[in-house]
Amino acid sequence: MTNKDLNTVLDLFCGCGGMSLGFEEAGYHVLLGIDIWKDALETYKYNHKQSKTLCADMASLNPSEVEKLLDGQQVDVIIGGPPCQGFSIAGKRIVDDERNQLYKGFVRMVEYFKPQAFVMENVPNILSMGDGIIKASIIEDFQSLGYNVQTKVLTASDYGVPQNRRRAVFVGTLNSTFDFEIPSVEHKVTTNEALSDLPEGSLEEGAAYPTEAQSEYQKLERRNSSGVYNHEITVHNEQTKRIISMVPDGGNYKDLPKDLQGTRKVHIAWTRLNSLRPSITIDTGHRHHFHYKWNRVPTVRESARIQSFPDDFIFMCSKTSQYKQVGNAVPPLMAQAIAEHLKKNLWKKIK
Ligand SMILES: C[S@@+](CC[C@H](N)C(=O)[O-])C[C@H]1O[C@@H](n2cnc3c(N)ncnc32)[C@H](O)[C@@H]1O
Repeated sequence: MTNKDLNTVLDLFCGCGGMSLGFEEAGYHVLLGIDIWKDALETYKYNHKQSKTLCADMASLNPSEVEKLLDGQQVDVIIGGPPCQGFSIAGKRIVDDERNQLYKGFVRMVEYFKPQAFVMENVPNILSMGDGIIKASIIEDFQSLGYNVQTKVLTASDYGVPQNRRRAVFVGTLNSTFDFEIPSVEHKVTTNEALSDLPEGSLEEGAAYPTEAQSEYQKLERRNSSGVYNHEITVHNEQTKRIISMVPDGGNYKDLPKDLQGTRKVHIAWTRLNSLRPSITIDTGHRHHFHYKWNRVPTVRESARIQSFPDDFIFMCSKTSQYKQVGNAVPPLMAQAIAEHLKKNLWKKIK
């Protein structure tokens, strides 16, 4: 086999396609993305014109239905992140009950297509849940299908993403082993390097960039883009603007006068991004973290920059939905680092 032969990908729980994009940038061809959420698939279709999509419930989807959409093409790699709704275990096994059906759906696809490799990502604490029984049980499920399985928690900022998002990643390989020594970048990209060229106010869809790119990261993000999309600001009420204006760059509720510290009952309340560091993990639009300089939350485009989506990746449907799509995604640059490493280190051995 050659590198070229081992190239096709099936993305399960694909969302808007952050993980797919990373694999595409690494030279793979994503045949099909599957998700149950129509909005995310709208975005997926717009930005992944070479891939098919299927709107289906992974809990019950039969792999033979998927096969019908693949026009006889083999699947080399299966990728995806089944939402973990709290695994249910009995003894040392993840049982086949309702709560585990999304994970089991992933296992079913691997069992059916027998790809050369799979990459499954999840929240970091999946590795410690149930005193490690969940992790051991996942490894065992795939080992019983013939896979070598490695797992590690990766931090996105090690791969050029301006964000300290951490994800647990399981990599399974059929005819070789995989080592997680993925080369990391020397310089961690800061939020200022990610966002400083985007203005305080909203821009019309497709508006020209108001300034030159001000960092290498901004040049990278703009590489195929002719203008700015998804940069519509949230206008907060006067009280919110007044309170956040008292928080310095990188600060949080502790920087507020005592009587205002308890105005939001979450531990990350009134947090401003730190302009000199990668961002904290962005959420799906809960409005708790603010721009390091402006008195507002980041726009969808700014959130997409923090996730390392390039500027020509455009988000569809309502703004609320766009925030959720961005916040749910695997950062494309992190997925790309995994994909490139897999290609170099695995494909070499099975040639
Ligand atoms: C963490 S997000 C995936 C993000 C994606 N990997 C990316 O990089 O953009 C999880 C996805 O699982 C999808 N999902 C949840 N339940 C599902 C189900 N029963 N069948 C198919 N997809 C489902 C959600 O709609 C969501 O898009």
